[in-house]
Amino acid sequence: MSGTYTAVEVSQAGTLQVVKRPLAEPAAGQVRIRVEACGICHTDAATVTGVYPGLMLPRVPGHEVVGRIDALGSGVSKWTVGQRVGIGFFGGEDGVCEPCRRGDIVNCRNPVIPGVTVDGGYAEVMIAEARGIASIPDELTSAEAAPLLCAGITTYNALRNAGLRGGDLVAVQGIGGLGHLGIQFARRMGFRTVALGRGREKEKLATDLGAHVYIDTAVDDAVAVLQRMGGARAILATGTSGSAMGPLVSGLAARGKFIVVGVPGDQIQLSAFPLVFGGRSIYGTLAGTAIDNEDTLAFSVLENIRPMIETVPLEQAAEAYARMMQGKARFRMVLVTKDGVAGSAPIN
Ligand SMILES: NC(=O)c1ccc[n+]([C@@H]2O[C@H](COP(=O)([O-])OP(=O)(O)OC[C@H]3O[C@@H](n4cnc5c(N)ncnc54)[C@H](OP(=O)(O)O)[C@@H]3O)[C@@H](O)[C@H]2O)c1
Ligand SMILES: [Zn+2]
Ligand SMILES: [Zn+2]
Repeated sequence: MSGTYTAVEVSQAGTLQVVKRPLAEPAAGQVRIRVEACGICHTDAATVTGVYPGLMLPRVPGHEVVGRIDALGSGVSKWTVGQRVGIGFFGGEDGVCEPCRRGDIVNCRNPVIPGVTVDGGYAEVMIAEARGIASIPDELTSAEAAPLLCAGITTYNALRNAGLRGGDLVAVQGIGGLGHLGIQFARRMGFRTVALGRGREKEKLATDLGAHVYIDTAVDDAVAVLQRMGGARAILATGTSGSAMGPLVSGLAARGKFIVVGVPGDQIQLSAFPLVFGGRSIYGTLAGTAIDNEDTLAFSVLENIRPMIETVPLEQAAEAYARMMQGKARFRMVLVTKDGVAGSAPIN
């Protein structure tokens, strides 16, 4: 590998720029990854616009990264050069804050976040903390695996940790990168799956992905439809609009859970009535850890779940990001490097 590599960095707020970077060696506890694919998550907008709290520019975005290890820092024993690995939003914990000391590392107060606190995967090369990476199963191509590392893990973990039972009515609001995987996970976990989208355009896609019922929130009263069905045991809210989320709480059954994974810029307005009368609850959940990512990938292989993706060369990151922001991606834009295009036949 030459002494430089191509990356796409946010050089100043709002600008994604193709640059050359000097190759660096991984420090103790780190691995260097030759990136093959990186998904474009909506959360990348907080890096591109520069609003992520504490963000320092320039920064390379990207936290749905798959590639092969090409160098190991000292003290790394679990991983080997040539192994295909991935990393998501969780890039490593500090191990010393209170949540970490209680074993809740995903809520670490001082986390490593690829694309935010360190450079991420819009690049041919990325350096990652070894404790943040996950092994990629041979059944998945790198471009398929990448979106599972954030959009996938976030919806998979949210659903599997919600205390649901087979046959429960589960609604997924928002059919984008997260939502289209949430629908597949909900269906394959054995839930009666409802997709909530805006307009008829996504109806067929949603039912093809496994939704038993599609509700067009542009014309239908989603709360009334859900209540006619008995009320949802859980609503997984993946959209980017807080004003669209709040009223949906009334579509829950008694004791139902409104699970917030989308992070809208506007406030979520709530009425106390459905919370108090019926004991409904609302809470958020953040992606998951490296081992949760391995669980997500394993379940996806087991149940034949794949993201729907549009692949583009790394150098066209700005165009691909714009397509995602315009809501045109079906359903995940994935950047592919020369190594990714060359193909990733499993070598182990
Ligand atoms: N909790 C976590 O750990 C986590 C992880 C990753 C991402 N996120 C957050 O999750 C959100 C979605 O990310 P993504 O990558 O899936 O984004 P995306 O692919 O761009 O999809 C955006 C979604 O927002 C919905 N939406 C947009 N405008 C809306 C409106 N006015 N009313 C209702 N729905 C609207 C769209 O639904 P339609 O089908 O109705 O168009 C679509 O499902 C973002 O806020 C992102 O930051 C959170
Ligand atoms: Zn993400
Ligand atoms: Zn911590």
